[in-house]
Amino acid sequence: MPTTCVVGILWGDEGKGKVIDFLAAETDYVVRFGGGHNAGHTLILPSGKLVLHLVPSGVVHAHTTNVIGNGVVVDPIHLCSEIAKLRDRGLRVELGRNLLLSERAHLILEAHRQQDHWHEHLRGSGKIGTTGRGIGPAYSDRCSRIGLRLGDLLRPERLRAGLQSLVQQKNAWFASAGLAALDPDTMYRDLLAAGETLRPGIVDTGAVLREANAAGKRILLEGAQGCLLDVELGTYPFVTSSHASTGGAFSGTGLPPHAMRVVGIAKAYATRVGEGPFPTELKDEVGDQLRKAGNEFGSTTGRPRRCGWFDSVAVRYSGGVSGASELVVTNLDVLRGFPLRICVAYRMPDGTRTTQWPAFDLELAVPEYVELPSFSEDLREIRQFAKLPLNAQNYIRALETHTGIPVRVVSVGPERQQVILR
Ligand code: IMP
Repeated sequence: MPTTCVVGILWGDEGKGKVIDFLAAETDYVVRFGGGHNAGHTLILPSGKLVLHLVPSGVVHAHTTNVIGNGVVVDPIHLCSEIAKLRDRGLRVELGRNLLLSERAHLILEAHRQQDHWHEHLRGSGKIGTTGRGIGPAYSDRCSRIGLRLGDLLRPERLRAGLQSLVQQKNAWFASAGLAALDPDTMYRDLLAAGETLRPGIVDTGAVLREANAAGKRILLEGAQGCLLDVELGTYPFVTSSHASTGGAFSGTGLPPHAMRVVGIAKAYATRVGEGPFPTELKDEVGDQLRKAGNEFGSTTGRPRRCGWFDSVAVRYSGGVSGASELVVTNLDVLRGFPLRICVAYRMPDGTRTTQWPAFDLELAVPEYVELPSFSEDLREIRQFAKLPLNAQNYIRALETHTGIPVRVVSVGPERQQVILR
């Protein structure tokens, strides 16, 4: 199948960067379809660690064309600086050649970042725990039909008029919130300058991708965040503001819903950054040990990630809504010496037992576990499934049984070659 979509199965941070990097070696196009620079995709390259926020992970491969699709929200100032940093690292980033930007992608402005912080402040103890990058307000403006798009940066008159009306609306409530008024002239000047830098890359990426698809080119759709952060299908309201599951791959690229291979990335345990329900969370010292063993700190914000046991109820749900026909299980090596627990059902507040993912009361769900014998061996140098300790093999088989999704790849370390194919 020429098109593969990679999605995070839970709340993001499953190690998609490494998997995309691995798959991109045999891909013509790598495409981001949603989210913005709230994402942090980590690659461990021979030259060291590289964290990408907005630029697709295929940029480290000489032969791939990287596309920021129309479903992504782009902070043009951030994008210019991310490109500059990548070039400083010696990577080839040529706008219009190996990096294309959708003219339809909406802009994140400094005002959105301020709104994001202000909304979080107003929510008080009910805060979402956003990355503070202005993602939600940018998508809100898109829905309110006052957003600006990358293509506007190339059309000074449209840009000026769009800014005038956006600033007029925002300044009314900025004043009531006690925030400094926005200055449309300064914004216009800064955006125009960023537009000049980005100009060669701003194209109709949907048309490019449809043509590539028709020509049988191999396209890799790089999900950001995870299915349970999807604005509609996730743990609402503790979600991001985009369609992070597979559905967003169509609307966020302009590709038609043709046959697509969907690969779900799941950690061998579970993690979450920010607030919101997390039934298998470990709030004790075992959770702290897991965080330390897996170095579970956000690659965008540096926040400690909440850690817990593998949740097959959640993974089965996400697998269903994303259409994942296979799983890549990452960080198996981290579970060395830990108990191997898998959540197989929830007890709900009314006493019922369910294996279905509930839309409400998830914070009150009590997980029911099965426990398997643990392993104590170092897995990082193992490259064949049959060479894994029997208990590690049995754990992977149990994940397949409880999720109903075959595990095709197991990752046993952060580096490119630390994978086991089945
Ligand atoms: P926002 O996307 O910044 O609005 O944040 C909304 C929620 O999504 C928060 O819980 C964030 O921690 C979470 N989030 C956003 N991006 C990522 C990501 O790339 N990985 C993990 N969590 C994320």
